[in-house]
Amino acid sequence: MKEATIRACVIGWPVAHSRSPLIHGYWLEKYRIAGSYTKVPVRPEEVVTFLRSLHEEGFAGCNVTIPHKEAAYAVAFEKTAAARAMGAANTLWLEGGRLHADNTDGAGFLSHLRSSAPGFDVRGSAISVLGAGGAARGIIHAMLEAGAAEVRVFNRTRERAEALARHFGARVEPYDWRQRVDRSRDVGLLVNATSLGMEGAPRLDMPLGQLPQACIVADLVYVPLVTPLLAAAGARGLAVVDGLGMLLHQAVPGFEKWFGVRPEVTPELRALVVADLGGR
Ligand code: ATR
Repeated sequence: MKEATIRACVIGWPVAHSRSPLIHGYWLEKYRIAGSYTKVPVRPEEVVTFLRSLHEEGFAGCNVTIPHKEAAYAVAFEKTAAARAMGAANTLWLEGGRLHADNTDGAGFLSHLRSSAPGFDVRGSAISVLGAGGAARGIIHAMLEAGAAEVRVFNRTRERAEALARHFGARVEPYDWRQRVDRSRDVGLLVNATSLGMEGAPRLDMPLGQLPQACIVADLVYVPLVTPLLAAAGARGLAVVDGLGMLLHQAVPGFEKWFGVRPEVTPELRALVVADLGGR
């Protein structure tokens, strides 16, 4: 008798650029699981119908990428606290015939931070976050859950930083973009959650001379892998956390839900994705 195959996928529009099949495909092979993980292009007008028929299509669940994260959140029956905090979902699974939604970006960032800077204690730390979009929201949620004392949000459009402070409460302080250097003199972690520094985007102007020597500098941008921000931080002798680790770690909970094994983020997996990104 043929062994039953568990199926999962990533949906997006477009979806061709997604590295998720590479990551999950690596784990399926590594753990010798009879499963598949594919890319499914889904048009915005078809996303609700597709997600409602996930079970009939034979899927155990899926990842969701741009532009479907909000729609996926809205259509789910059960949502985790992380998904609720973000109003957006990147990981869906069926449980008791019902669609469940999580957002694993923040937890992925935290796992990566813990493995690449094990000495850093989020609890009691002040953290600077550059940017106030969806990516920043995930990081802020995870940092507050992990016990950060204070999260300072610097954004070009101050109103967006203020909206995050209203949403998350007293531990989040909104600031003007121009205050990012002066108000980061005493932080333990600085995170770039803007799109600045990405290939094809303008450079991030963030002088690092004022940061404490123990400050960790993290970038969510992973193309290029070593962003100008991380290169400058490294040159100053600061510990750095790159954006690729978050991409790898955010995939862990979905794989575990669908295929029943908690997979490991290994140097080999990382090398595979780096090679696919063209070694940049
Ligand atoms: P994501 O969901 O990936 O976070 P986003 O919601 O478009 O994407 O957010 C992009 C972030 O980069 C925002 O914080 C944006 O600032 P605004 O809220 O003012 O738009 C920030 N950003 C993009 N280009 C920028 C620039 N040239 N200077 C400063 N911040 C910039």
